[in-house]
Amino acid sequence: MGMKVLVIGSGAREHAIAATLLKGASVDEVTVAPGNPGMELDGIRTTHIDPSNHAALIEFMQSSGYDWALVGPEVPLMHGIVDDFREVGLKAFGPTRAAAQVEGSKDFAKQLMARHAIPTAAYRTFTDYDAAAAYVAEHGAPIVIKADGLAAGKGVTVALDTQTALGALEDIFVERRFGNDDLKVVIEDFLEGQEFSLMSFVNGTEFWPMPISQDHKRAYDGDKGPNTGGMGAYSPVPQVSDDTVEQAINTIIRPTVEALAEEGTPFTGILYAGLIATDDGPKVIEFNARFGDPETEAVLPLLTSDLDEGINAILNDEQPTFTWRTNATALGVVLAAKGYPGKPKKGTLVPAIPTDSDSHIYYAGVKKPKHPENQDPADLISSTGLVSSSGRVLVYETVAPTLQAAQSKIYDTLDTLNTTGFFYRHDIGAKALEAIVPNNPNHIE
Ligand code: AMP
Ligand code: GLY
Repeated sequence: MGMKVLVIGSGAREHAIAATLLKGASVDEVTVAPGNPGMELDGIRTTHIDPSNHAALIEFMQSSGYDWALVGPEVPLMHGIVDDFREVGLKAFGPTRAAAQVEGSKDFAKQLMARHAIPTAAYRTFTDYDAAAAYVAEHGAPIVIKADGLAAGKGVTVALDTQTALGALEDIFVERRFGNDDLKVVIEDFLEGQEFSLMSFVNGTEFWPMPISQDHKRAYDGDKGPNTGGMGAYSPVPQVSDDTVEQAINTIIRPTVEALAEEGTPFTGILYAGLIATDDGPKVIEFNARFGDPETEAVLPLLTSDLDEGINAILNDEQPTFTWRTNATALGVVLAAKGYPGKPKKGTLVPAIPTDSDSHIYYAGVKKPKHPENQDPADLISSTGLVSSSGRVLVYETVAPTLQAAQSKIYDTLDTLNTTGFFYRHDIGAKALEAIVPNNPNHIE
């Protein structure tokens, strides 16, 4: 009998995790709570349990004989889901509430980095508008304003002028856009360079890094428009050198993992480092206590070992094995509902995207229509029969021998589909091509 694994979450990241687990030799069954109906197309089960209902999840695992759980999103981690599972003797892959603060509190992360000389942007913390505004006036722009706590990326303003910086402070302290409690702001220096994500499997003081990836946070081509949860990603990132990655591991990942263990909050799970390769070496812009989204959808397809066996080994305090393809690129593009990240248009039929053994669709904001009988059969022919239910609808991902080949394959398909009611970026991976294509002024050897 193989293992049964519960994945908590509902997005494309959880779809990619569940699909990868299901491929493993030692796994029989994967259920995602609450998941989405797009996952079911891949033989993944879903159960309508809210991730905030820890008692119901525990009851489900115990009564259905589940071996362990993997927590996708940050909110249940910060609410102590791993602590609650452990208390009843259930295994859950993810950090405790205390260790998850590395993501949940910018201030916690910044103080940890300061104590251990881990390179990050210089910063100051403020709890009132006047002092923060005075600091902005004195420091000048560019400058970065971050609301402390959970704002899902929305709490960050990269201000290129002081006016914008002061506006961001007003939003936080005067308009109270992110709530009233314990108002705290981290103001940090602007870092310049290529942004990349370095995720690692972690067990206490040991860690196993994954290939690096690059997210695209802005909504539109050319990094224009509002910040989103991420519009696409690719891995590896050729314009960030192996030396830089090695340096990031030695000056950031190892000391952070050791610091968390040493200070009594040992970390088990996925540590995500959002980094900028500055002229002065890699520096941290943020830590997350979980798999990144959409990075995971472009990193897990490169895994050649079994994800289930690796995680199971960590949960049993054994040595895991993780091996990766090094001769290929994975690239994923998000199809989003028009209006995202503001008010996404819901209820649009989601187009069916053709896939092969090298490409996948990872679903996120999709649901079954309330009145399927009202759908025009002609429309259904080229659709999944599912409709959009939130901003990011799916990730279309492929693995190819080169970045150019991966990009062409994705866009040749997307550009010929009827994507009315949706939008996507046309330049995922462009920063790498600018850097690696010869005769380009930015060419990197
Ligand atoms: P975060 O939510 O912390 O990931 O920030 C959102 C985005 O803002 C990041 O992906 C970066 O592109 C940008 N950012 C955050 N902090 C900095 C910084 N100190 N310097 C430059 N860009 C930053
Ligand atoms: N891609 C950034 C994140 O997962 O937070």
